[in-house]
Amino acid sequence: MERLMEETKVDNQVKFSLDRLFQELKALRGFDLSGYRRNMVLRQVATRMAAVNIIDGQAYLDYLRDNPQECNLLIDRMGVNVSRFFRDPVVFELLGRDVLPDLLRNLPSGCGNIRAWSAGCSEGEEAYSMAMMIHFIMNARKHDGKGIVVATDIDCTALARGKRAIYSREQVLNVRLGMMEKYLINRGDSYEVCPEIRDMVQYSWDDLTVDETLAPIENIAGTFDLVFCRNMLIYFTAPIKKRVLAKLIKALRPGGYLVLGDSEFVDPETAMQLEEVDFKSRIFRKPKP
Ligand SMILES: C[S@@+](CC[C@H](N)C(=O)[O-])C[C@H]1O[C@@H](n2cnc3c(N)ncnc32)[C@H](O)[C@@H]1O
Repeated sequence: MERLMEETKVDNQVKFSLDRLFQELKALRGFDLSGYRRNMVLRQVATRMAAVNIIDGQAYLDYLRDNPQECNLLIDRMGVNVSRFFRDPVVFELLGRDVLPDLLRNLPSGCGNIRAWSAGCSEGEEAYSMAMMIHFIMNARKHDGKGIVVATDIDCTALARGKRAIYSREQVLNVRLGMMEKYLINRGDSYEVCPEIRDMVQYSWDDLTVDETLAPIENIAGTFDLVFCRNMLIYFTAPIKKRVLAKLIKALRPGGYLVLGDSEFVDPETAMQLEEVDFKSRIFRKPKP
């Protein structure tokens, strides 16, 4: 009941101006929030309004117009960028045991490299976990090629933290023994990703909901062998989720793998374009023609 009252209060504060806020953000920053679930947007707008001590929706719109930095802070909040290394360890075990060996066996001829994309990478925990696993498996198999992980997000602060590559003990708790000493440098209370793994990851800003760009700009070299898009689709309305999935599938080469978050399900039309590899871990493969 208390929660319901809280949500109604939040709703009343901003609901009259939410569509105007969408238009304003699109005009000011080219960023379209209309595909995000409305309740989630309302909650984040209310948090920002409280942070700047504004209780009226129109006053917040004026504030947004006069303070460009507020646009960034609001967009950053849409992420709720909670993440950690090897989030859902079973998914990464399957990556090392089944997915990467299959990719290495079936790389397109003339190419020894694995190209991966962490879409909605937050502060880089997922991208570095992918890079560590790729490096580990390539080493174990004495594979000559390189691993490249493109890491993208809309949150500039998170991207900057990813580039810095320094994490707390809690963030790296799931890194298994053997990888911890090999890939992380202990600096007192924190851990720094070693240069070899850092060099495998390229960061860039990319909005997955935008139609004009098919994949991150770093992707000029071709399609990806592996795409992770985990714990982000939950923010989107069904049509936007479908559009983002179409984009991810397009960015994959035939035979490449797509990995989603464990509560992220695909619509029937999208499911027809994928083979399910592991239902529980949400691992799919793009079929070969
Ligand atoms: C909860 S984090 C997930 C991080 C990581 N994938 C994981 O599973 O641990 C969601 C991330 O999606 C990003 N995000 C939200 N909307 C986005 C968009 N339109 N395009 C790209 N990234 C987006 C957020 O900024 C945030 O960093």
